[in-house]
Amino acid sequence: MYRSHNCGELRMAHIGQKVTLSGWVQKARDLGGLTFLDLRDRYGITQAVFNMDENAELCLEARKLGREFVVQVDGIVRERSSKNASRPTGDIEIEVSALKVLNQAKTPPFTIEDDTDGGDDLRMKYRYLDLRRTPLQNNILFRSKLALETRKYLNESQFVEIETPFLIKSTPEGARDFVVPSRLNPGEFYALPQSPQTFKQILMVAGLDRYFQIVKCFRDEDLRADRQPEFTQIDCEMAFVHIEDILNTFEGLAKHLFQTMIGKDLGDFPRMTYDEALSKYGSDKPDLRFDMSFVELNDVAKGKGFGVFDSAELVVGICAKGIAESYSNKDLKDLTEWVQRPQIGAKGLVYVKYQKDGIKSTVGKFYSDDELNDWGKLFGAEEGDILFILSGDAEKTRKQLSELRLELGRKLGLMKAGDFKPLWVINFPLLEWDEEAGRFHAMHHPFTSPKIEDIPRMLNGDHETMKSLRADAYDLVINGSEIGGGSIRIHDRELQSKNFDLLGFSKEEAEAQFGFLLGAFEFGAPPHGGIAFGFDRLCAVMNGQSSIRDFIAFPKNNMGRDMMIDAPSDIHDVQMKELNLKSTYTKGN
Ligand code: AMO
Repeated sequence: MYRSHNCGELRMAHIGQKVTLSGWVQKARDLGGLTFLDLRDRYGITQAVFNMDENAELCLEARKLGREFVVQVDGIVRERSSKNASRPTGDIEIEVSALKVLNQAKTPPFTIEDDTDGGDDLRMKYRYLDLRRTPLQNNILFRSKLALETRKYLNESQFVEIETPFLIKSTPEGARDFVVPSRLNPGEFYALPQSPQTFKQILMVAGLDRYFQIVKCFRDEDLRADRQPEFTQIDCEMAFVHIEDILNTFEGLAKHLFQTMIGKDLGDFPRMTYDEALSKYGSDKPDLRFDMSFVELNDVAKGKGFGVFDSAELVVGICAKGIAESYSNKDLKDLTEWVQRPQIGAKGLVYVKYQKDGIKSTVGKFYSDDELNDWGKLFGAEEGDILFILSGDAEKTRKQLSELRLELGRKLGLMKAGDFKPLWVINFPLLEWDEEAGRFHAMHHPFTSPKIEDIPRMLNGDHETMKSLRADAYDLVINGSEIGGGSIRIHDRELQSKNFDLLGFSKEEAEAQFGFLLGAFEFGAPPHGGIAFGFDRLCAVMNGQSSIRDFIAFPKNNMGRDMMIDAPSDIHDVQMKELNLKSTYTKGN
């Protein structure tokens, strides 16, 4: 028997019992007569003690143990004289009577403790060591339980878990495909799914009217903290539903998960149209943990002789509460430089400070105090507040102000840990005009339905009309992170063909790529719709973190590499030949 108990289990109630524990040596401390060993497994840490006076041989053996050795100890549980209140097992220790080294270990390349000294790439190379650390273990356990709770909720709501294939044809979700050459079909390729979108719609045609899957998706896109090339979705689809049914079902799922996992009652989720989100927050995923909503100043700021505002399409600002006295000229200069960085791209930053001793502003020359006081009223500003104002091209300026709003939120500590603010963003545009490519893209994906009232305009309207079509598409946003997205789908062949048409697919291309779906729509497709939650993002957001990497057991780095197994890598010439691939690329070119 390797163990009678685990390393997180023993308490005062076990005192006097003979036990056997196995685990890794976290730390050994030699205090002359006594040697202490911290023995760790996934359940916790237990202190083992070796006494020189009672068993010198054993004690000397214990002193030879290195960090991360795998050992087994037999002994008696006894009360500790100096207790460790920060550890659940801190009241007891094991008085060891036998020690067995199950395996030795090289000195690990970084410390395996809650705070490690290892850099990102090193930790990824030795992922098995990083995964021994408690914070990562907690993340992985959290993820496992989150999947379980998801299954519980969806199972109780009559959803069926169905696997869909990975070797498929391109599913357009807006990223590049990862492709896999087919040996049996020379010169042909499978694409890995960017999502199971078309399959879940086919399952609705097949009559399995509530589908879900916790499923890997693959997207060859530029990576960021909240993006991995392979990531997991809670992917769902329902038939015979309107938008309201879907929002209610999945608001229910999100509430269930927050309640059971972290004991948070999210309350009812507010809703905001895409247009409102953009005009109030400059973003389709606003962080509502703090307000600081936009106020447009065109009517009051233009035409007073300040050329920058006069020539701008939009003058828009936000109000930061209570910082006018403490925010120094240096702070203002830093913030101005921050918005002028190429990543943000603003030309300058106008401020209006409402201080005890009067108003101070970069545009004081152009506007009277009365005028600046009137601006303040539009924001609900009081003494002690500062307005920050940007101007220029409307779309760009909103984006820049959105970034500034978030930066101020961070700087002023307005995004509080443990505070969760969900939001449904609804009524997304159906199509997005790509000026450079001279064509429309689907804002969500090509299977998304326009709003019923917009269908006649979609079928008969001109080019400009298409830009104004609204979709039955929605995103779930929590704390400024896009947690999920979905839509009601087109279930009519003609309308779907029209959409492909608008997206620039010829009849032949649409048939070649999506003929199976269009064909299925001719055999009794029910009205349907769905959503997918980003499972990794949900884990991170629920734990107040922005990076999804530490919630994935084996993530990729920013170059899409798995540092542990060293992938991607070359393949053998024989394999290349079998796959009918010719090497046209030489490393280093
Ligand atoms: P969408 O493309 O919006 O919708 O994806 C759904 C959710 O998946 C998460 N997500 C990602 N997470 C980590 N890394 C990535 N690279 C990544 N890309 C997306 C986000 C996002 O909200 N088939 C549709 C869903 C539907 O219409 O039902 C889809 O995939 O949290």
